[in-house]
Amino acid sequence: MSIDRCFKVADFRALAKRKLPAPMFHYIDGGSDDEIALRRSTEAFADYELMPRFLVDVSAIDTKTKVLGTTLDWPVFLSPTGMSRLFHHEKEPAVARAAAKAGTLYSLSTLGTTSIEDVAKASEGPKMFQIYILKDRSLTEEFVARCKAAKFTAICLTVDAPMSGNRERDFVHGMTMPPKFGLADLASFATRFSWSFHFMRDPDFRLANVVHKVDALGGGTMPLMEYMNSQFDRTVTWKDVEWLRSKWDGPLLIKGLQSPEDARNAVKSGVSGIMISNHGGRQLETAPAPLDCIAPMRDAVGDALELICDGGIRRGTHVVKALALGANACSIGRGYLYSLAAGGQKGVERQLKLLRTEVERAMVLMGAAKISEIDRSFLIERRRR
Ligand code: GLV
Repeated sequence: MSIDRCFKVADFRALAKRKLPAPMFHYIDGGSDDEIALRRSTEAFADYELMPRFLVDVSAIDTKTKVLGTTLDWPVFLSPTGMSRLFHHEKEPAVARAAAKAGTLYSLSTLGTTSIEDVAKASEGPKMFQIYILKDRSLTEEFVARCKAAKFTAICLTVDAPMSGNRERDFVHGMTMPPKFGLADLASFATRFSWSFHFMRDPDFRLANVVHKVDALGGGTMPLMEYMNSQFDRTVTWKDVEWLRSKWDGPLLIKGLQSPEDARNAVKSGVSGIMISNHGGRQLETAPAPLDCIAPMRDAVGDALELICDGGIRRGTHVVKALALGANACSIGRGYLYSLAAGGQKGVERQLKLLRTEVERAMVLMGAAKISEIDRSFLIERRRR
């Protein structure tokens, strides 16, 4: 099977499974505890039907969307995800280039394996940097300065990880950073020739943005959750959001909020918007599906914030449903990691192209020529929860 035979996210996932050693595949694919939040984030979309309107002129579909002070060609951008080197040797620059080609924004994670500066070199497209406020607070200030110098479009602050969620698949498969050939999954390394070849040829898995400060990976491998827990800071509060706001005057999102109360607090803190997210079902188990949080948050804040639906998006119809409920745009994380693993930059390019075509097709078939026309009147809720 090649990427040319992949038509939907599930196809890229199947190919990724064949290309990645088991620890890496399950790191992308897994969630916390019983993976209920993970599953429901996508299942929630099926609780809505799209009511089409016909005999409207849909000869020209305009998917342009203004978010974060920039105009994207269509209303989906790429969420920050850590450590792309684990999944493909072309790592973050491949994804950043694919995003720019697809007319959308790329987000680099604090836990990325490429530096802010190298991502800026790789792509002139719009870029966001995702910040974890780590125990070493001086790092945050440094990130802001580096983002300004590298002309990043926006920053987002992830707040849903005061500690790592319980990702049991990582224990089962011996996921460590950097990866090591564990006994449990030796066969899966041995049969993934391309991944293992590149692993041996270029074994640099360092976290490029923090490597000069955080030495945790210097002394050998450690289980990923242990590493994350050693760095995450549980004292981060709204005061830190205000502090970050005072340091960065460009577009600033908070990633991980889900409640209307927190949306109101976000307005007070002066941020530009929220990435509504349960961290891909990887943090608090049974945190609600992001889709279900959009309308209550929109009702709470009106137009005061941009709302991004981050979670569960697999289809173009998912995107228009999130927009109909009040999101300004959507973002995908896990979805593009499958295509990165399946085919590097070409894989991500193909997946974004397919998804964009699906969004356009959905708009033609439902009778909405412009993004601003998509509202709740297109939706029917199948089952009230
Ligand atoms: C990192 O943010 C992860 O979810 O693995």
